[in-house]
Amino acid sequence: MNKFIHTVYIGLFFVVGILSLILLIANGYDYYQLPIEERVFSANHISLKPSGTWGHGLGILGTIMMIFGVAVYMIRKHYPRKFRFGNLKYWLEFHIFLCSVGPIFVLFHTTFKFGGIVSISFWSMVAVVLSGVIGRFIYIQIPRTIQGHELDLNELNDINRDLTVQLSVKYDFSTQIIDEIEQEFKPSKYTNLSFWSSFKIIMSDFFKLRKKLNSVKSEIKRQNITDKRKSKEIMKIVKSKIILLRRIGLLKTMQKLFNYWHIVHLPFAISMFVIMIIHVAVTIIFGYRWIF
Ligand code: HEM
Ligand code: HEM
Repeated sequence: MNKFIHTVYIGLFFVVGILSLILLIANGYDYYQLPIEERVFSANHISLKPSGTWGHGLGILGTIMMIFGVAVYMIRKHYPRKFRFGNLKYWLEFHIFLCSVGPIFVLFHTTFKFGGIVSISFWSMVAVVLSGVIGRFIYIQIPRTIQGHELDLNELNDINRDLTVQLSVKYDFSTQIIDEIEQEFKPSKYTNLSFWSSFKIIMSDFFKLRKKLNSVKSEIKRQNITDKRKSKEIMKIVKSKIILLRRIGLLKTMQKLFNYWHIVHLPFAISMFVIMIIHVAVTIIFGYRWIF
């Protein structure tokens, strides 16, 4: 997938997700706002209630999306020899799309009324989604190949050296600035931090990074580099270098955190699915068949 196709791929996910949310709100805003006891008098009740044609359908569709989103990612991740199609990175993005939009559909299926034992399934779903957002944050801090393999310290140091060579040899850029970057963002600054301190340092680095990029811009001007493509390339390499130095420093912490994270994400997913299966079985026993 080249950069353009990847942008379209991600863009489509955003468009479908946001458009679905807007349509669901526009379709049932008046109904969802009503107090529970008044809903039965609404003309929309027959269709939008959890067992209504629309409400029930949303529960089924959202659940299928989540099952599919988890299944395809796990199969692709755990059986890479048999299922080689597409890079793992893109399948994770697909997982995130289906497992974010699916829960939105289920939320509208519940009509914002979370009663009974199935509410455990609902809150587990919320916990999986929220933990997913944190997991995604940790995931991107661990550098990987596009096939999803984690890079080790030696490989990362090689990439860092390569970026330095590109700046100093290929682009003849100021070695003083390169040394300043190495000093200011040296990996040892980031080692042995807790998750919270790592999070804070990543946030504060955002402003430091902007400041450094501005000083690099001034240096480009000072060195009279007028070729736009060349100056863009220098800026890109400097940015990659700063982020890489930080990720080298944070590598051990993030790998440890990511292992702990799996211990949280997976049990919530299992509890959501187990109670959902019981919920579906009960509704079928009670005679709810949707359109069939
Ligand atoms: C994770 C997925 C799901 C969650 C979290 C969920 C949650 C809920 C909740 C909170 C309610 C309302 C309970 C109440 O009235 O207090 C409900 C009702 C209902 N759900 Fe689900 N649901 C899920 C998936 C499904 C699926 C896949 C189906 C069908 C195959 C389904 C069928 C129904 C039906 C028929 C009702 C109405 C039951 C009644 O009025 O007594 N749900 N669900
Ligand atoms: C109902 C929603 C979701 C369910 C049921 C779900 C379930 C799962 C499962 C079962 C795994 C595999 C865990 C493992 O290999 O140990 C996983 C991995 C993952 N999920 Fe989710 N997930 C959901 C939503 C999300 C969301 C919304 C995000 C991000 C915003 C997310 C991000 C991730 C990440 C980063 C991984 C780790 C990938 C890896 O280790 O290779 N998930 N998810």
